[in-house]
Amino acid sequence: MRPSQSMSRHRLLLAFLSVQLLTASAVADSTLTQRTAIGGDQRLASPGGVFQLGLFSLANSTRWFLGIWLAASPGAVVWVANRDRPLHASSSGIVALSGRGDLVLLDAASGNETIWSSSSSLAAVVAQLRDDGNLMLADAAGVTVWQSFDHPTNTFLSGSRAGQDLRTGAVWSASSWRSADDPSPGDFRYVMDTRGSPELHVWWNGRKRYRTGPWNGLRFSGCPDMTTFEDLVEFRFTHTADEVSFVYRDRVGSPVSRLVLNESGAMQRMVWDGALWRVFWSGPRDQCDIYGACGPFGVCNAVGAVMCGCIRGFLPSSPAEWRMRNASGGCARSTALQCGGGDGFYTLRGVKLPETHGSSVDAGASLAECGRRCSSNCSCTAYAASDIRGGGTGCIQWFGELMDTRFVDDGQDLFIRLAMSDLHLETTKTSKLVVIIAVVITSFALLLLSLGLMIWRKIWLRSKQVTKFDDIVRGECPTYHLETLRAATDGFCTKNEIGRGGFGIVYKGQMENGQEVAVKKLSAGNSVQGLKEFKNEVDLIAKLQHRNLVRLLGCCIHCSERILVYEYMSNKSLDTFIFDPSRRVDLIWRTRMDIIFGVARGLLYLHQDSRHTMIHRDLKAANVLLDREMVAKISDFGIAKLFSSIGDHQVTERIVGTFMMPMCGGSGYMSPEYAMDGMVSFMQDVYSFGVLLLEIISGRRNQRGFNLIAHAWMLFEENKSLELLDPAVRDGCSLAELEQAATCIQVGLLCVQESPSQRPQMAAVIPMMSHQQALERPLRPVVCMPVSTLADLLNVQEDTSGNVELTITNLEGR
Ligand SMILES: *[C@@H]1O[C@H](CO)[C@@H](O)[C@H](O)[C@H]1NC(C)=O
Ligand SMILES: *[C@@H]1O[C@H](CO)[C@@H](O)[C@H](O)[C@H]1NC(C)=O
Ligand SMILES: *[C@@H]1O[C@H](CO)[C@@H](O)[C@H](O)[C@H]1NC(C)=O
Ligand SMILES: *[C@@H]1O[C@H](CO)[C@@H](O)[C@H](O)[C@H]1NC(C)=O
Ligand SMILES: *[C@@H]1O[C@H](CO)[C@@H](O)[C@H](O)[C@H]1NC(C)=O
Repeated sequence: MRPSQSMSRHRLLLAFLSVQLLTASAVADSTLTQRTAIGGDQRLASPGGVFQLGLFSLANSTRWFLGIWLAASPGAVVWVANRDRPLHASSSGIVALSGRGDLVLLDAASGNETIWSSSSSLAAVVAQLRDDGNLMLADAAGVTVWQSFDHPTNTFLSGSRAGQDLRTGAVWSASSWRSADDPSPGDFRYVMDTRGSPELHVWWNGRKRYRTGPWNGLRFSGCPDMTTFEDLVEFRFTHTADEVSFVYRDRVGSPVSRLVLNESGAMQRMVWDGALWRVFWSGPRDQCDIYGACGPFGVCNAVGAVMCGCIRGFLPSSPAEWRMRNASGGCARSTALQCGGGDGFYTLRGVKLPETHGSSVDAGASLAECGRRCSSNCSCTAYAASDIRGGGTGCIQWFGELMDTRFVDDGQDLFIRLAMSDLHLETTKTSKLVVIIAVVITSFALLLLSLGLMIWRKIWLRSKQVTKFDDIVRGECPTYHLETLRAATDGFCTKNEIGRGGFGIVYKGQMENGQEVAVKKLSAGNSVQGLKEFKNEVDLIAKLQHRNLVRLLGCCIHCSERILVYEYMSNKSLDTFIFDPSRRVDLIWRTRMDIIFGVARGLLYLHQDSRHTMIHRDLKAANVLLDREMVAKISDFGIAKLFSSIGDHQVTERIVGTFMMPMCGGSGYMSPEYAMDGMVSFMQDVYSFGVLLLEIISGRRNQRGFNLIAHAWMLFEENKSLELLDPAVRDGCSLAELEQAATCIQVGLLCVQESPSQRPQMAAVIPMMSHQQALERPLRPVVCMPVSTLADLLNVQEDTSGNVELTITNLEGR
């Protein structure tokens, strides 16, 4: 290998020079041999000059340490040898290879006493500082006998491992400095917990303080933001019989980065931009990341009005403490488990998995097998996939308390065992008959499934050779064959039609494995985008995963046909609830609040938290879907972009969105600036959100003949805001809820202000609604303008769904 070659070259060189202490310049070679030593202000520099090793002292102190730092940023000390035994003068320090073959730091002031030694088990003949910041000792054969990467202090560098060698028991962990000017070990430690599904923990004085969550194949379950800097660093997680470790590597050409456990116990990823260290990530990120914030069976929600909640089927174990915002006691099961067929599983979506300490892990099992195992073992309380790739594989089973669960963006599904009565809160009791029927149906479905799988495998094997599109498709978003989707929707039969909008028709479908999907056939006339652009865009949409976004499962491209496949939402869209006189009674205030917060969170994720920020452009009640648990999920995001053609020089521009006359206060969901100028910004979505919020609260549509915004403004001006509240919920509301409603109405009005710059950003909207931020008084919304002028100007065509397409044809040219 190259290092040993260069080492032998150095040895040759030194034989000629035959020096004892390297003299001349302060910055010397990159290697030390048994004939050389450095001391005082002399340094070793790595061959490319990236890192230096030498003695340093910290601000205004007389204590000296042997360390390694980035040459360009001497303050960035990445490794310290004599952490808790400083030298008292730099002049007395000598760094050399001892006769035994250890690297040693000697203090000449006290008769060459050994202050620090590498204590390697094998004798080294050469020490070299490398360009990755690793100090390596090698024996005569060039074999590494010791390296600083195996003894991290508070920093991990590109290529250094955090974890444990399972053969020797050696631990690669970090401990914080005691303070900024004292590198001796402080109160925080960063270690790999190898039990259950391994993950990294920060400990404070012997108490667990923060978990990253287990590795899920792509990232740590509790660190969704890891993937946002994948273009700079690459992650590798190893879990074999020999070792469990986590390593990152700076990508070729990327700046140097380091992962530091700082003095306040936070892990920080810092990247050197040439002048400054930029913090890219840090953990814990918020209160919900503090270990056990909501106790056993609690679930933490960092953006909710209230931080801690209990998982469905559980109630606070100590309601009095809980009411005083002390949730550390957690929650207890409200109905005892019955075992033997009396239980079911509730899916808690979008979470960081609870601690896996006592859980059993089998990476080889499928998720379905995992469910069977858990349901047949009475002591199993929950299960989840251990690897989220490919729709979820592997099996983690929990047998006791579920500790430290929280909601995160891009979180995982956790399946929790509940008594049947807690599972279906609306249905009263399950009879034996239902169970028997369920068992029969399930086994029949399983039979069909395995048959289907066999057929599918055949089709798949055959299609692998014929579809040329498959070459481009290797991305993350799977493609479906037209035949598969045709079969799933009975040949796109009208009876399966569940929606129709500007972009195409949506069908309900059932895949061969029983999975229900929504199949959106994009109208052919619009698909001007090329195959590759389309596919890129679809891949991008599929990467946006959030609890409050409808998940795109895949796509299908066949000739001019473009089809998108989404997860199916059994409760359909929000407009079928809030505008329906009989159904909207079911939407109690709590549910409406949850929906509003859900939409806000989904939108915030689109705007700033995801890797690819995105403007929705067409947020409306019909685009908010509700799943079985009435969790709100935004749909149709990113679709507008699928239609924008690349290299299209025509002046005609199609404005997407839902626009309703009259043009008063920007009726419909379209903000005035968008309707008038086609100006697209995040504030367009904030406006739509404001309209939607007022609609959810009032149960009335902002539409032709009724201007909800003007109405809300008038009531607000007269101090009668609460009259806007839907009479269907008003009577059931507590005083606190009425107060919350008034706050929300004000936030809604702030969102629909005329000038985009006056509207709050989505990031501010959530704290405003949860009373964490003072509210400004909204300004009067846009004044009305006559319908005819605008309609004439814009050549309005209205389609069946109430969507209006505006075609602005070269307005300036006329
Ligand atoms: C250095 O230490 C001395 C005495 O401890 C103190 O008087 C002085 O202000 C310190 N200087 C700085 C820059 O901290
Ligand atoms: C200490 O070590 C240095 C370098 O190896 C040597 O020159 C010096 O004589 C030693 N001093 C004593 C007191 O042994
Ligand atoms: C440690 O990191 C956290 C998170 O980035 C930061 O808030 C804190 O100020 C840092 N503490 C120190 C002592 O640098
Ligand atoms: C919080 O509640 C737990 C019991 O649920 C109790 O043991 C603990 O002392 C409480 N902590 C505080 C700070 O009140
Ligand atoms: C259930 O799981 C636990 C933990 O893995 C195991 O000890 C026990 O034997 C299992 N019980 C059955 C009936 O399989």
